[in-house]
Amino acid sequence: MDSRRRSDASTPVESDSPLSPLSPDFVDTPATQSSVLFDDLNELLRRFPSESPYILVTGGLGFIGSHTTLELLKANYNVIVIDNLSNAFANVLDRIDLLARKFHQENGTKMPTLRLHAHDYRDTKALQYLLEEYQVESRWGVTKSKITGVIHFAAHKAVEESIKQPLKYYANNVSGMIDFTSTLGDFGIKTFIFSSSATVYGTLATSGLPLKEELCVHKEEIYVDHNGVARVVQPGCTGITNPYGRTKWICEAILADIAASDPEWTIVALRYFNPVGCDPSGLLGEDPRQVPTNLLPVVVKVMTGQYAELSMFGTDWETEDGTAVRDFIHVTDLARGHIAALSTANEGQLSENFRTFNLGTGSGHSVQEVVTTMEAVASKPIPTKVAGRRPGDVGSCVAVVDRSQDELQWKTEKSLKDACQDICNFLDVSGLSS
Ligand code: UD1
Repeated sequence: MDSRRRSDASTPVESDSPLSPLSPDFVDTPATQSSVLFDDLNELLRRFPSESPYILVTGGLGFIGSHTTLELLKANYNVIVIDNLSNAFANVLDRIDLLARKFHQENGTKMPTLRLHAHDYRDTKALQYLLEEYQVESRWGVTKSKITGVIHFAAHKAVEESIKQPLKYYANNVSGMIDFTSTLGDFGIKTFIFSSSATVYGTLATSGLPLKEELCVHKEEIYVDHNGVARVVQPGCTGITNPYGRTKWICEAILADIAASDPEWTIVALRYFNPVGCDPSGLLGEDPRQVPTNLLPVVVKVMTGQYAELSMFGTDWETEDGTAVRDFIHVTDLARGHIAALSTANEGQLSENFRTFNLGTGSGHSVQEVVTTMEAVASKPIPTKVAGRRPGDVGSCVAVVDRSQDELQWKTEKSLKDACQDICNFLDVSGLSS
């Protein structure tokens, strides 16, 4: 801290005092102003509860977005959601609000602000308008945003659709993110958490190598592998099987370049494994508008009688029971991973200003195990049929989670069984269980 500034953080402050209220004894010259002014504003933002940090969440009403918005509110962040409702329903906002209020009531704490801006994250004019609202100005006319971080979920994510309509994916996921980060940069908002995917590992998932972040990098890196051998990894990717996956890889690469070009940016790319489950209340769930293709949503369709059976894509993989193995992570654990990433980034604790992290449990379950677990929890059979391998699938995809545990101080707490139980709660609450 600047030695000329007061260190007593509890001193009441009048922001319109003729002397700088937070640093009455510093020598105020034009030469010292700009660096000190930003420190003052940071102090002001920290001290006034009504000015506590705002986090901007794109796609905040989707499956992972809604759970993350809820966990952010519980962690006392004000949340501004941008969502165009293309794959979510507006009533999700009311449910998040209800759950967060209940949490704060029970804990005797104050409910932070939750706001929805129902437009496309690519609508730059609407975005600029929104960001202007959150600008704060010092008495010297220096502006800074009350938004201290952005979590960017909004993206198309259906693999098959991406193969049929690649430009739709590149336009929304890649071009959209370029414009978005450019506008954020204009407003000085430079803490960015990106929703990436284990899909960036491509066919490395089947190589037998443990899926460490170092296997897929954006600048040359040297790391020591699990056999203690030092390896040099060149930037690039191996065997990404579809345009959706490539958009995630390309966005990571762009973000790495932004971070390298400007040290003010702090960017985290979170590589999700397979998110499942929902909030235990059963009020938030995976409720896509589009036809589901992921395993658990399809299992749910079978449980509710909408589909006659589950097609098991591939029973001849080199796994214990022949069905594919995935690292299924409970969505609430995943949501909390974002908060860990955000606070690590904002506390300046990241080892570099672009960093990737796997978010998974570190252990795998097969498709057959998922079915068996759900059958046990729901106490009903789930009809299945053997089907051929789905194009682009890999046999096994399980995270190494050392980096996120060590550097984000985060680890998963919930099991596959918890996820199945919570999905049953969701079906009960929504009146869908048959
Ligand atoms: C998929 C995407 C991945 C994305 C992730 C997000 C593909 C090829 N990959 O991963 O890019 O990041 O979702 O959650 O779509 N399965 C069945 N029957 C079904 C549905 C799935 O047997 O009806 C099997 C799949 O073949 C796979 C496993 O279940 O072996 C998991 O599938 P899914 O939930 O779609 O996830 P991923 O394929 O791992």
